[in-house]
Amino acid sequence: MEKIILTGDRPTGRLHLGHYVGSLKNRVALQESGEFDKIYIMIADAQALTDNFDNPSKVRDNVMEVALDYLAVGIDPNKTTILVQSEVSELTELTFYYMNLVTLSRLQRNPTVKNEISLRGFEKSIPVGFLNYPISQAADITAFGATCVPVGVDQLPMIEQTREIVHSFNNIYGETLVMPEAKIPDSELEQRLPGTDGKAKMSKSLGNCIYLSDDEETIKKKVMSMYTDPNHIKVEDPGQVEGNVVFIYLDVFARDEDFAKYLPEYKNLDELKDHYRRGGLGDMVIKKFLNNILQDFLRPIREKREALSQNIEYVYQVLKDGTLDARKQASKTLNRVKKAMKIDYFENDEFLKEIIAKYQEK
Ligand code: TRP
Repeated sequence: MEKIILTGDRPTGRLHLGHYVGSLKNRVALQESGEFDKIYIMIADAQALTDNFDNPSKVRDNVMEVALDYLAVGIDPNKTTILVQSEVSELTELTFYYMNLVTLSRLQRNPTVKNEISLRGFEKSIPVGFLNYPISQAADITAFGATCVPVGVDQLPMIEQTREIVHSFNNIYGETLVMPEAKIPDSELEQRLPGTDGKAKMSKSLGNCIYLSDDEETIKKKVMSMYTDPNHIKVEDPGQVEGNVVFIYLDVFARDEDFAKYLPEYKNLDELKDHYRRGGLGDMVIKKFLNNILQDFLRPIREKREALSQNIEYVYQVLKDGTLDARKQASKTLNRVKKAMKIDYFENDEFLKEIIAKYQEK
């Protein structure tokens, strides 16, 4: 069986370090592994509209922002097909048929949807389109025959929902859809990078993000105001490393080479942590160190992004070509689905033969 990846993001804002650590890095590694026959990355604008239907410009503007972020981190359009969801109308059609296979209570029980409903204050009246988006996500995944869906942990209920739909569809209409599997980041640290304020998650709505496109000054300001250990007041005080955002980021980003380059008094992170725990190491030192590391990491990404934004017609063409390519695959799946559901009346002449045989017998 072919190995196919599909994943995606809602274009509601530029992508940040949390996206990078939790999924973009993984995607680039999978792309470079050469293990996959086909890789699709979707800019899920139709899904973004399910809770931004009253603000279409926000979604429209962020389609290009997300595309720029993808290309800047190393998603390579020669190896990965980048597509715009709303331009593949087959996905909407698949969604309509899958809706028959899912109950209202099942959607309401979906933990991710539940959480998002309360975040958006939708408890009293939930737009049907929003409640339905897990089904539309099942269409995204199955349309491309994805075997592997690299996502963050918050998306696991969506993949579970998709698997149930595949199971149910294949049971009722015969083996048609491919069963996907989720792939989450290996380490817990990568699964949920905390925001700069120490809150559980880096998230646009919490205003605690470092964006891939942030400029040097902004990054520095954000690092310098990071949450550390509230009880570490004087330099001499012993400090806590656990839950300290600067150390969490250092765990993710610091390599021994960075110590040689910026903090040669220490060989590695363990030595730095020991000193902080003992006391006598100020927050300024660790923040400056982290700032240097993040600047080195983000500089090439930002520069590539800037260069691409000067060549925006190229980016536009990448999206257009990718979407046309994706449409072909989605259309094949839709044809198979309609055939399985016996609604392929005009697709071939089987239906005509059938009715002729039936009506001429009389
Ligand atoms: N729900 C995903 C998010 O909020 C975006 C998405 C849409 C997606 N369709 C998908 C992810 C299909 C994986 C597979 O980030």
